[in-house]
Amino acid sequence: MATQRELARLAGVSAGTVSNVISGSTKVSDAARRKVLDAIQVLNYRPNLIARSLKTNRTHTLGIVVPDITIPFFPKIVRGAESAARERGYFLVVLDSQGSHDLEIDMMALLRQRVDGILLVTAGDYKWSQQSVTEIMDGPPVVCVDRLPVGLDTDSVCVDDFGASELGIKHLLALGHRDIAIVTGPLSLKNEQERLRGYKRALKSAGIEARSSFVWSASFEKEEIEAEIRHRLERTKPRPTALFATNGVTGIYALRSLYGMGMETPRDIAFTTIDELISEDIFQPRVTCVVQPTHEIGYRAVEVLLDRIGRNGAGGPPTRVRLPASLVARESSRLRRGER
Ligand code: RIB
Repeated sequence: MATQRELARLAGVSAGTVSNVISGSTKVSDAARRKVLDAIQVLNYRPNLIARSLKTNRTHTLGIVVPDITIPFFPKIVRGAESAARERGYFLVVLDSQGSHDLEIDMMALLRQRVDGILLVTAGDYKWSQQSVTEIMDGPPVVCVDRLPVGLDTDSVCVDDFGASELGIKHLLALGHRDIAIVTGPLSLKNEQERLRGYKRALKSAGIEARSSFVWSASFEKEEIEAEIRHRLERTKPRPTALFATNGVTGIYALRSLYGMGMETPRDIAFTTIDELISEDIFQPRVTCVVQPTHEIGYRAVEVLLDRIGRNGAGGPPTRVRLPASLVARESSRLRRGER
């Protein structure tokens, strides 16, 4: 089995640099880190975890709690996190809280005894009890990812929610739409609130005041989303010419509802959503999406977590990483020349 000394020789760096890369310290230049990671690949280096855990009182294991492993968005985050962890000799344990706060609390307690750090995608907008907050802040470092819980002031990594909405709305405005409705998920979630704010700001920047009759909202339940879309489209006059969904779950059921009402996009209403939709390539016309950098969110979250672990609990203000989303314009939002 290759040793760190052999890695150092192959990468042409010091043994100290190799150990820094493996322990996730950020005190290494990107160039040196690349060389060491390449050497790890070439020599198929595998750290002796037991020996090291005993020496370092670390398990070299991380945990991630996600709210629903069946929604493709979250496994993509896990994949990014797992890549970063594996590259640094860490093992990642994945737990699914199934949207339950109680389960989430239990899982955090389970992980606290077993891992060096935790990534948390919170199940929802629950108010964390003071006891839970204390236990979390006294335990191994926690980085909150994507959905940021109320009352937990930890490091965090997520998309720039506000900017993601602006991107989608500016796309629809650029296509000439003025009557743009939005359908959100639960507005008790911080990221949904930020996405609504981005919608209002983008309209404002075009001199349009957001109309409350164009702000629609539902839970993440299929039936509720479909009912909200039907209810609103039947009653909202004038009908919006475009609809913007703030996340992939809301988006896919909003589309189903539109199709169920015999409507077509973009002929009857232009459509854009945040997140790639589940098996998006079967949709005809294909759907315009504002895509979150899911792999990078997971990857950066592990980097932030290992940096915090590397500081051995030495405080310092929370690190806040906000990553930009990107627009993938397809047929669902744009009318072909001369249509309508
Ligand atoms: O269900 C996936 C959606 O909820 C994504 O937009 C993600 O940000 C999450 O919060």
